[in-house]
Amino acid sequence: MTALDQLRSAMRRAGVDALWISDPANVRAISGFSSGKDGKVLVTAHGATLYTDARYTVQASEEATVPQFIARPPETYVHARDAAGGLRVGFEADHLTVALLDDLRDHWPDASLVPVRGLVHGLRVTKTARELDAIRAAQRIADAAFAQVRPTIRPGVTELDVALELELAMRRAGAQSAFEIIVASGPNGAKPHGVASSRVIGDDELVTVDMGARVDGYHSDMTRTVAVGEPSAELRRLYRAVLEAEQAAVAAVRPGMRAADLDRLARDLLTGHGLGEYFAHSLGHGVGLDVHEAPGLRATSEEVLEPGMVITIEPGVYVPGVGGVRIEDLVLVTETGSEVLSLAEKEQL
Ligand code: GLY
Ligand code: MN
Ligand code: MN
Repeated sequence: MTALDQLRSAMRRAGVDALWISDPANVRAISGFSSGKDGKVLVTAHGATLYTDARYTVQASEEATVPQFIARPPETYVHARDAAGGLRVGFEADHLTVALLDDLRDHWPDASLVPVRGLVHGLRVTKTARELDAIRAAQRIADAAFAQVRPTIRPGVTELDVALELELAMRRAGAQSAFEIIVASGPNGAKPHGVASSRVIGDDELVTVDMGARVDGYHSDMTRTVAVGEPSAELRRLYRAVLEAEQAAVAAVRPGMRAADLDRLARDLLTGHGLGEYFAHSLGHGVGLDVHEAPGLRATSEEVLEPGMVITIEPGVYVPGVGGVRIEDLVLVTETGSEVLSLAEKEQL
């Protein structure tokens, strides 16, 4: 079954006759058009059209797997009204702005607009062989960049220096950075999403590096915490606890496992070390056209792991005034268990 056929089945289950796709990654997933932020797709029971503007006429004709209509709003809406009029049209509730929903209501007065969630996202949770190739390529580039830059993470170097070198290495290898690289040294390690700053890395510190590459629109995501000099016994204790939780969770990944149970496993281990309160986020997430996508590996998740999912396992502890540790692997769920895609070396402390 093609992605469009699968989507139409999901639309029927959701009770809509058509779907207005506005989320850029979903536009790409359904149409193949890589500038999804400047595109929309209308899918009906028998057709699908990509709407984008004249800046993309050539690119859309090269990339899109569905017919294209090149225009800007309001012409876009006027054209789409022929297909959407009188139908129950789903819109992506977790993406479409209130202003753009108002525009749809103004232009399609006889359509019934229905908020839907996760219809295209649901198709994206398991990856095709082609998608996996791109994710593997992205991770290989990130691994190589990390290996190249790791020896330069030393006292006297700023966090920004490290981030810039990592980004340069990934760009030279033909990838983009998947997100703003995190390099968090010393006490900055207590900020899970602290961006690289002009702080100079000091002696005997831990440095958390969270990085990813993007290849053909697909992402990788990995974190390593490295030691500079001889970190204190307390920092080493934090590191070992996180490594234990990370390795235990990775080892438990297999189809049929509940995402919530995986989160619980890592959280219980850290709680056993007296560190549960410092594990300030969920265990991980799916990775693909978005860095963060389904499934969510969190306590409240209803999702169950399936072969073909690509997820992160990323426990961390963040102790204000002291520092922090996160270790994150990118993991493919296979028929029999898992394959760890992120191969960059881990510190042993
Ligand atoms: N870099 C964000 C994350 O690891 O989820
Ligand atoms: Mn990350
Ligand atoms: Mn992550």
